[in-house]
Amino acid sequence: MHIYDIITKKKHGEELSDEEIVYFVREYTAGNIPDYQVSPLLMAICLCGCTDRETATLTQAICDSGDVVDLSELGDGTVDKHSTGGVGDKTTLIIAPVVASIGAKVAKMSGRGLGHTGGTVDKLESFPGYKTSLSPEEFIEQVKDIGIAVIGQSGNLAPADKKLYALRDVTATVDSIPLITSSIMGKKLAAGTKSIVLDVKYGSGSFMKTAEASTDLAKCMVEIGYKRGRRVSALITNMDVPLGHAVGNILEVKEALEVLSGGGPTDLKEVALSLASEMVRLSLGKEALEARRLCEDAISSGRAKAKLVEWISRQGGDASYAKDPSLFPKAPLVREVRAPRSGYITHMDTEAIGLASVALGAGRVTKDDVIDFTAGIYIGKKTGEYIEAGEVIATLYSSAEKRLDEGEAGYLSAITVGDEKPEELPLIHNVIGR
Ligand code: URA
Repeated sequence: MHIYDIITKKKHGEELSDEEIVYFVREYTAGNIPDYQVSPLLMAICLCGCTDRETATLTQAICDSGDVVDLSELGDGTVDKHSTGGVGDKTTLIIAPVVASIGAKVAKMSGRGLGHTGGTVDKLESFPGYKTSLSPEEFIEQVKDIGIAVIGQSGNLAPADKKLYALRDVTATVDSIPLITSSIMGKKLAAGTKSIVLDVKYGSGSFMKTAEASTDLAKCMVEIGYKRGRRVSALITNMDVPLGHAVGNILEVKEALEVLSGGGPTDLKEVALSLASEMVRLSLGKEALEARRLCEDAISSGRAKAKLVEWISRQGGDASYAKDPSLFPKAPLVREVRAPRSGYITHMDTEAIGLASVALGAGRVTKDDVIDFTAGIYIGKKTGEYIEAGEVIATLYSSAEKRLDEGEAGYLSAITVGDEKPEELPLIHNVIGR
């Protein structure tokens, strides 16, 4: 078998055999095929697409490229959630303790932020001492004991995806349904939970810009998981505006704690409760309305917040910060961003807002960049709101004036102000399940 022939076949829109797909994933992961040959193959997949069979085989090959976690000793109630990535998306910090406090087993591997999107692992490291890596035995033991463990992706989980994703990131081949499906579902299948809830974002801060494209992606992922014996559903949620008001690690942790204490922004609360309810429905077999009631109750009773405290301290983190968020350090420099004119905010380029927060120090441009946990943005006004010229629309936090200059310019360029109130896009566009 030759990679040259495989590239040629896909370039002409022909279907690859299972053997060809398995060969290219295996040999690329082993370092036997160079990036310069896999790059055109990825581009051909982007342009010509894949059949359902090809996507399923690619997903399986990515899953099988490394360790496959066996969670069978935790029973049937194991559940995971995965977001396709967004700005201000701190839902895992809310959902995981809500769902665990109801009795589901949250065995979760999360990612770090890269590019304009944030990552749960970085947010968790805002708690001093939090261990993002546990041995497989410790991980399973913790879920058994307290119903929840959240760690970074283990070293040898879906190594094919690590290489492929890094290559896609620099070859403009991320936004392809078969490639995103195989990347996400390859990892999720290897991570071993019985139920999987997907948060598939749409809009300016998402890889998928329209709700229709996100729905197609969600259907593809749900079908693949279902065929592999998992209970899967997907919510198509709005990422045309950042979720909540806070963007940046400590700011987001504080906002998540507000929701767990019964407050917080309405949009964040709604997306978090909808995802959590779906996780409870799938993993514990509850009716949708009952699942929702249980989740609301977990917050109002304080049980979810208590579960978060238990989880953070069990994983080595200082949970006093969760009890008293004013203990978190604050950024040394603060700057207010003022409205350039009066009118309605008609659009927010959410990807650009994510990049503005990276410029402030909250994220990474390359994998090895060091994050400033205190940096970020508090968004005062969002799409659809009326603003007066000169009014404060956002507050920026950073540790250097130069970063504030860059962040402010980026933030202002992301906001469009007009005279007409824009049409409101739904927070949850659709739910796809089987
Ligand atoms: N997140 C992933 O893990 N993979 C993708 O391809 C896109 C988003």
